[in-house]
Amino acid sequence: MHSSQNAKSTPLKITLKCFFGFENILAEELYELGYTQCEQLNRAVQISGSWDDVYKLNLFCRCAISILVEIDQFFIQSEEDLYKRSLQIKWHEIFDVNKTFAVKGAIFSPIFKNTHYPFLLVKDAIVDTFNKRFNQRPNIDVKTPNVLFDLYIKDKQVTISVNTSGLPLFQRGYRSSVGAAPLNEVVAACLVRMSGWDRKQTFVDPFCGSGTILIEAALLAAGIPSNIERQHYAFKNLKNYNAKCWEDIYQGATRIVRQLPCNIIGGDISDEMVLKARRNLRKFSFGRLVEISSTSFDQLKMEPPVFILTNPPYDQRLAANILDLYGQLGTWLKHKMAPSSVCIISSSREGFNAIGLKASAKHLVYNGDIECEFRKYELFEGKKDLN
Ligand SMILES: C[S@@+](CC[C@H](N)C(=O)[O-])C[C@H]1O[C@@H](n2cnc3c(N)ncnc32)[C@H](O)[C@@H]1O
Repeated sequence: MHSSQNAKSTPLKITLKCFFGFENILAEELYELGYTQCEQLNRAVQISGSWDDVYKLNLFCRCAISILVEIDQFFIQSEEDLYKRSLQIKWHEIFDVNKTFAVKGAIFSPIFKNTHYPFLLVKDAIVDTFNKRFNQRPNIDVKTPNVLFDLYIKDKQVTISVNTSGLPLFQRGYRSSVGAAPLNEVVAACLVRMSGWDRKQTFVDPFCGSGTILIEAALLAAGIPSNIERQHYAFKNLKNYNAKCWEDIYQGATRIVRQLPCNIIGGDISDEMVLKARRNLRKFSFGRLVEISSTSFDQLKMEPPVFILTNPPYDQRLAANILDLYGQLGTWLKHKMAPSSVCIISSSREGFNAIGLKASAKHLVYNGDIECEFRKYELFEGKKDLN
């Protein structure tokens, strides 16, 4: 594994993992970043590239959860084959004995009765390789390893990769304050892209909570990488880490803007949530440019047309009567917000029904383990949008 690329080096197989249903959104983002050749897999997109690309993607890609680089791929007939083939990998060329490591991943193979066992076999192969060569072994740290390997077995095919991100990329480093039901940052970035917002129209989140959607929208509009505040990247712990290359990429990224290309407006009925959103926004140069009011959605001051993307409460912890709230939201949208585009993510099917508007698009999405729906509505003046 070499970080300085030249024309002759073999391209790396890079796998960007994503959440269910966002494969085409990630592929679209990659296309925009200049990666025009990509293959969509289940919860992942694959491209080929260099270590420079791996560094860039960890910083610039908003819609991926982690970025893997393939180390080896082979076929096995038995459990023992996995150990033997793993012993042939030059682990000592990938990381130093003083770094901690872990092996995680997914196993879909009848060869293994116990799905934990393959991880143990690869771990043993790594430890035995170091012991044999240096009479010393690296320690395992399952929670916060310096170096993380990904093991994926589908029937007889084994793929071993190094996870160059380490902690998932939704740990952006900007959100210190959250409420009871925060939206995952990567999901928020994917929804902003899925919504089709043109990055120019006034953007509004009337149930902004800790401000995740507002921040991801502002970062996108300003061209600032979503991970600009993140310090941790597992690739920094690999033997081939090229600090100069990373610094050039990191320093070259936009981080400060004096203005945003559009208005970005948020609101939340809870004073506490508004304080949290402001605290999170303060990490960015554009923080003060995003207007947030402590108010109910129907009192927000703005003139249509606007672009609304929001995640209203979906359980009793966040609003006393969900159906009333969604009903009032529907009435407000119909009577006060037309003409506008509106996108809503919620896990409350009854809530969506209570809105009483006909959606122009619906997608099944997940916020962590919570099954949600993402619906888009086009509000026209007149009665076109009524059920
Ligand atoms: C699901 S949370 C939003 C989470 C947010 N997307 C985040 O990432 O932190 C819903 C929010 O709606 C707020 N809320 C409840 N009723 C409201 C109302 N009538 N007007 C505005 N906000 C309201 C709650 O205080 C809560 O913060």
